[in-house]
Amino acid sequence: MADRVPYIAANWKMHKTVAEAAEFVDALLPRIAATQHDVVICPPYLALGEVVERSRGSAVRVAAQNMHEQESGAFTGEVSAPMLAELDVDAVVLGHSERRRHFGETDEALARKVPAALAAGLEPILCVGESEEARDGGQTDAVLERQLQADLAEVGGAKLAEVVVAYEPIWAIGTGRTATPEQAQQACAFIRDVLRERGAAANSMRILYGGSVKPGNAAELLAQEDIDGALVGGAALDPGDFAAIVEAAG
Ligand code: PGA
Repeated sequence: MADRVPYIAANWKMHKTVAEAAEFVDALLPRIAATQHDVVICPPYLALGEVVERSRGSAVRVAAQNMHEQESGAFTGEVSAPMLAELDVDAVVLGHSERRRHFGETDEALARKVPAALAAGLEPILCVGESEEARDGGQTDAVLERQLQADLAEVGGAKLAEVVVAYEPIWAIGTGRTATPEQAQQACAFIRDVLRERGAAANSMRILYGGSVKPGNAAELLAQEDIDGALVGGAALDPGDFAAIVEAAG
């Protein structure tokens, strides 16, 4: 993890009502009161305001799970970066594989979303990752490089350092099949190399691993040199489990 500040994010996906979100935050805050890490909660849109208000003054920062690339317009059902920023949301997950797979999120859209997030003062958490087929075919690096180059095409050197990248192998998400620490480390190191080649201050950037992270495997994953944090789905629905993962980051 080198000397980068650990970054542990809870991706709730389509889980938790506003009341359930409030309950989670109240249960989490005392458990992480002493942490020096960046702790990020990504609730559904409707619970963003509640989580922002309840976690003020704590280590918790708040991220949306998606956004539209335009500031406003005739895009029924969508939410823009300035709308999120107005709520004091800090960050936004972009390019999650579930959005790519179920909602037609394209690299072209992501190339517009990343700069739109940055322009509104939101920290993009850009997700990249290969399918099982691509890994078996020895295409992992090629897929990661293609996604990074495409999704960050419109972001230049200094701005790149504000992006957080999450390596999320699709075959490890919600499957209980975690990448081995070696596989995850190798991919995160490769991502850092690609970012460096693009002119980023890559040594200061946070690169996360996501895919079936749990209290029992977090420490080993987070101990890897190039893994600076975790994007946690299933295990982030319980405040005790999530706090244990925050603690596992050291
Ligand atoms: P999981 O999800 O921890 O449930 O595998 C991770 C993610 O989708 O970000």
